[in-house]
Amino acid sequence: MHSFGYRANALLTLGVTVLALMCAMASLSDNINVPSPSANVQVLNVNWFQKQSNGNDEVSLTLNVSADLRSMFTWNTKQVFVFLAAEYETTKNSLNQVSLWDGIIPSKEHAKFSIHTTNKYRFTDQGSNLRGKEFNLTLHWHVMPKTGKMFADKIVMTGYRMPEEYR
Ligand SMILES: *[C@@H]1O[C@H](CO)[C@@H](O)[C@H](O)[C@H]1NC(C)=O
Ligand SMILES: *[C@@H]1O[C@H](CO)[C@@H](O)[C@H](O)[C@H]1NC(C)=O
Repeated sequence: MHSFGYRANALLTLGVTVLALMCAMASLSDNINVPSPSANVQVLNVNWFQKQSNGNDEVSLTLNVSADLRSMFTWNTKQVFVFLAAEYETTKNSLNQVSLWDGIIPSKEHAKFSIHTTNKYRFTDQGSNLRGKEFNLTLHWHVMPKTGKMFADKIVMTGYRMPEEYR
């Protein structure tokens, strides 16, 4: 009896050790995964561009948002939240950030996409600074894991410019 109990205990200890080792290796493999996402956004059309009665510029854009975020998905990825922001400088603020579109990617199968859309959220300036303004479009993402820490990163796409005149 005594020796059986001892062996069962030793077996249990081994089992727990193997399980702990497997967990450590799994979480290590998740950290080793280096995502190589790509993104590309085209402004297909400026639908309209106006100074509102409150004096603030507002523009409506049609965008083609393409991205391949499949490399972010590992066994440990629950979902990925993405948002596209227009970023530009004004004399008042060194960074103005306007969210234009966002989405939740539930799985790797949905992580390569091309979306033809007008801006989902209003693109307004706090003032009338948008005419001829250079801006960046930045795709931000937050990877929500099943276990462990959330992480965030972005791709900056440069070289966009607003029209010189309202239309
Ligand atoms: C959107 O961009 C993707 C990738 O650059 C391209 O394949 C697709 O034809 C574009 N769609 C439109 C409507 O321009
Ligand atoms: C656009 O991004 C580039 C690279 O990060 C940065 O140097 C530049 O200042 C940005 N331009 C604007 C208008 O925010």
